[in-house]
Amino acid sequence: MSGSFTTTTARNIFYGGTLFFLLVFLALTFQNEQIIPQRDQREMLSNPQIAAGKKLWETNNCVGCHTLLGEGAYFAPELGNVVVRMGSKEAVKAFIQSRPAEGVPGRRSMPQFGFSDQDLDNIAAFLDYVSKINAAKWPPNVQG
Ligand code: HEC
Repeated sequence: MSGSFTTTTARNIFYGGTLFFLLVFLALTFQNEQIIPQRDQREMLSNPQIAAGKKLWETNNCVGCHTLLGEGAYFAPELGNVVVRMGSKEAVKAFIQSRPAEGVPGRRSMPQFGFSDQDLDNIAAFLDYVSKINAAKWPPNVQG
């Protein structure tokens, strides 16, 4: 049996396999190119409130503790779907506002950022925007 596996067979498997997976790769690339523009919601970032919230998100290093759609630090809850989890933008704002300035004794907790009402509206608008991104069902459950 091993005698029938010739150099030509090996070469054909190599070329055939390479061609097959190249075609799979091209088909998936083509499919992605079709889908991604439909999912792209970046024009929403031209909304000044959402843009200001994104700026707050970046300048306060929320991602140093939290993940956003899976990206970031795993110290604190995922926030990509926090508006859904907490039920409303109001609940998210109330949570951020209510953090004790002195922290929670005995552990590193969510800081008090001292945001103005305007800041709270902006960060909540940004988190609401993120919760509506079509992220292929990520995070997989409401707990994040
Ligand atoms: C030093 C780490 C740290 C940073 C920085 C941080 N957080 Fe948090 N956050 C936490 C922790 C820990 C919790 C979980 C509740 C607690 O222990 O206070 C939390 C909880 C939350 C929650 C509630 C999540 C839930 O599902 O209960 C929201 C909303 C939130 N953070 C928003 C933010 C935003 C917005 C920023 C940036 C402006 C931020 N956090 C920055 C640590 C942090």
